[in-house]
Amino acid sequence: MSEPESEYTIGIVYGLKRSLRYGLPYWRIILLTILCMIIYSVSLTGRAYMIKPFLEEVIIPATEMRDMPGLGSLDLSQIKGEVSDEQLAAEREKLAALLEEKLVLLIGIALAVVGMIPLMAFVKGYGSSYVVARMVRDLQCDLCDKFLQLPLAYHTRARKGEIFARLNSDVGRSAESFRLLFGELIQESLTLLVGVGAMIYLSWQLTALIFGLLPPLVLLIVRFGKKVRKRSMKRQMKIGDQMGSMLQMFSGIKIVKAFRMEETESRRFRAVNDELFRREMKVVKTDETSKSITELFNNFTYIMFIGVGIYAIMKEMLGLTLPVLVAFLALATTLYRPIKNLSRSYNKISDSMAGIQRVTEILDLEAETPGQEGSEILTDIQKEIRLENVSFSYGGEQKVLKDINLRIGKGQTVALVGKTGVGKTTLSDLIPRFYDPTEGRILIDGADIRTFSRDSLLRHIAVVTQDPFLFDTSVEENIRYGRLDATDEEIIEAARAAFIHDRVLDLPEGYKTRVGDRGARLSGGERQRITIARAILRNPSILILDEATSSLDAESEQWVKKAIDNLMEGRTTVAVAHRLSTIRNADKIVVLEDGRISMIGKHDELMQQEGLYRELCALQFQQDDFGPLTNSRSA
Ligand SMILES: Nc1ncnc2c1ncn2[C@@H]1O[C@H](COP(=O)(O)OP(=O)(O)O)[C@@H](O)[C@H]1O
Ligand SMILES: [Mg+2]
Repeated sequence: MSEPESEYTIGIVYGLKRSLRYGLPYWRIILLTILCMIIYSVSLTGRAYMIKPFLEEVIIPATEMRDMPGLGSLDLSQIKGEVSDEQLAAEREKLAALLEEKLVLLIGIALAVVGMIPLMAFVKGYGSSYVVARMVRDLQCDLCDKFLQLPLAYHTRARKGEIFARLNSDVGRSAESFRLLFGELIQESLTLLVGVGAMIYLSWQLTALIFGLLPPLVLLIVRFGKKVRKRSMKRQMKIGDQMGSMLQMFSGIKIVKAFRMEETESRRFRAVNDELFRREMKVVKTDETSKSITELFNNFTYIMFIGVGIYAIMKEMLGLTLPVLVAFLALATTLYRPIKNLSRSYNKISDSMAGIQRVTEILDLEAETPGQEGSEILTDIQKEIRLENVSFSYGGEQKVLKDINLRIGKGQTVALVGKTGVGKTTLSDLIPRFYDPTEGRILIDGADIRTFSRDSLLRHIAVVTQDPFLFDTSVEENIRYGRLDATDEEIIEAARAAFIHDRVLDLPEGYKTRVGDRGARLSGGERQRITIARAILRNPSILILDEATSSLDAESEQWVKKAIDNLMEGRTTVAVAHRLSTIRNADKIVVLEDGRISMIGKHDELMQQEGLYRELCALQFQQDDFGPLTNSRSA
């Protein structure tokens, strides 16, 4: 896929909405977590607020009692002269006892409040991490499902690195924003809310002063956030390049080594990474600048408040008292972190929005749409497959196939012949609907194959290609891929028919042997015979062979050919044949030239005519009796 021009197109609100949808199934846990967050915020605010009752109820009266001969809060004028020293001492004692009682009570409350903090922190931390982990899992599975459902046309165009980047790095970024959304963002907003409530309660005048200072700060944060979002989008796009570069290197490692290209590859990788590094640093720069400015702003505000507060107390303005100011400042300290975190989360969320957008782009792509898929069930092929005026292009101007008309009778073998690049593979890809014709239609017994469900259509088709693909699991599982409910006996039977059974028994763990990445531990011929066993197990009525023997040496070819003969038995076969010997017995040989059918007939008929077929045959006989037929690039 080409690099999308979209810098950042989705708004933060849309991105959050998409994220929230993934949280929906876990609303109960989210609710519980939010409840804990509320208690946490109240405790945090309470901890700061407690300073006020401590000061008012205990510390100041106690200090007064110590410093003054009188009784602190008692009005001495009322009892002037009429109190004996003893009475005074008794009153003092009573008051001291009262203060002590209050102190114990306040400490008790403070302990309860402070005890709540770690308890709630644990529950909310666990809860939000649980929800985020679940959301990430769901997102990743959705994304993988989507990639599996996307039509082949998407995958042939898309770069693997790009897909990996989206599955990995972009999901990671999205996870980051989930984490912020269900952690910091809610928590800090709540703390801020409760804290500001307490501040208003303490002194609405001072609170109003703070709010007067907020708008410029918010404006600043939003501006920086936008910049971060743009820059991280650019960075994420580079990550696709990075992964692609790595994947290509490893899948072509043999070529890299053979051509001594290690250094070139290393340089190229370095260049991609340097660019990534530059883009990362741009994000960091914006982020850090915004953080520093916020920090400066916060500290400035704090000092200003101390000044204003003390001035107000001295001038007896705003109804301020010392306990109120101290509690107010304690609250401001508590709120310092939420404000800082909120502005930082805004940047971080802006950063991860790029990830969410890139994930969303994929999720919003159209899969192989049900609209293009019928619901009819293909039970069996009775008569024929027919191509009617089929043309096809891969999207560009140029038509690869032009006006193809072809009948393939049930049980027949039809061979496609022609020069490389003429469209043989393309034509055979149309039958299992890897692509749909741009014009014309393909019929099975008179019904357009688009009216069948993909499931039922593909159940009757097996494809064997030039490049046998095995998954990195056991031989047995690779064969079973043809039909998941097959018994062990059926698997062995299929392996026998594909002439691979004896070879499998020679493997260290027989059918349980792992074949390695893409089947690396087996030879090409062995791999091909396993894919043939897979196809035999599937027992399809339609078989598509695309140069199934072309990449093999003469000896393994003999075995594979025998296996293919077994596989073709009684099936309708479309064979893109590489070697003449394979197609000699075909019921119909179709010669493609320039995207059109130029000749149709049996081998002997075609040999009698002037034309490409005879040329190709002659060319092959020149090379050797069974030389390649279709690879005649020189022709
Ligand atoms: N995925 C694709 N996207 C665009 N063009 C393609 C794609 N696959 C094949 N082609 C082009 O279509 C033509 C036919 O290719 P193909 O069917 O593979 O030929 P053949 O199998 O006869 O060698 C070629 O010119 C090739 O370049
Ligand atoms: Mg081909």
